Amino acid sequence: MARVKALVAGNWKMNGEKASKKEVTALVRKLAGKKKLACDVLICPPATLVGLVKEAVRGSKIAIGGQDCHAKESGAHTGDISAEMLKDAGATHVIVGHSERRADHGETDAAVRAKAEAAHRAGLTAIVCVGETEAERDAGATLKVIRSQLKGSLPDAAAAKTTVIAYEPVWAIGTGRTPTPEDVARVHAAIRNVLEARFGAEGAKMRILYGGSVKPANAKELMAVPNVNGALVGGASLKADDFWGIISAYL
Ligand code: 13P
Repeated sequence: MARVKALVAGNWKMNGEKASKKEVTALVRKLAGKKKLACDVLICPPATLVGLVKEAVRGSKIAIGGQDCHAKESGAHTGDISAEMLKDAGATHVIVGHSERRADHGETDAAVRAKAEAAHRAGLTAIVCVGETEAERDAGATLKVIRSQLKGSLPDAAAAKTTVIAYEPVWAIGTGRTPTPEDVARVHAAIRNVLEARFGAEGAKMRILYGGSVKPANAKELMAVPNVNGALVGGASLKADDFWGIISAYL
């Protein structure tokens, strides 16, 4: 198995105001001097806060990402934000195809792929999300769904430095429920197989994050699962203490 440095990423979703800067500052303090930390750390605040949070992490190793981008570089797309604009604001990453965007905005695999390509065009790392619904899981269709989402959502040019996969079972997001480590292992192994078959050595090195109700109490167990190369954290990334509790799995 290729050695892959883990990534712990916080997705703030539609949460956070200027006052949230104090949580970021607290996290920067906790990270200071932790040279042995075996993971990278990323915060994806809402677009309104990318600049502010970037300022707050200055001098630390914390990276900043967006939560979505438009496929085009610029133009008449009211309310949208391009990958280039995120990059200009200080982002190095962008989440694309989160299940909430697939559900709320009807984003298809093809749309997600176009957004991932836009991220690459702008020089951002794309965090491409996949995950089955509860009904799909109950129907025994988890692996079929994941394989199909990966096939449709990943650009052909995806490489380990430019692309991260996040496996987020929809039924585990914000519910406090998580799959068993065995279930996570099964899905992540299937994802790794797909990545290696399509991208060869790059696929072996690509990070595969787990997301869905990751908390300080379960982070160590989930992060120890083979082919889990970090976490995409929602609710527990909003408070420095909780997020640090998850990051500490890699101390
Ligand atoms: P929760 O950690 O709140 O379950 O959210 C997971 C998620 O959707 C991260 O993108």
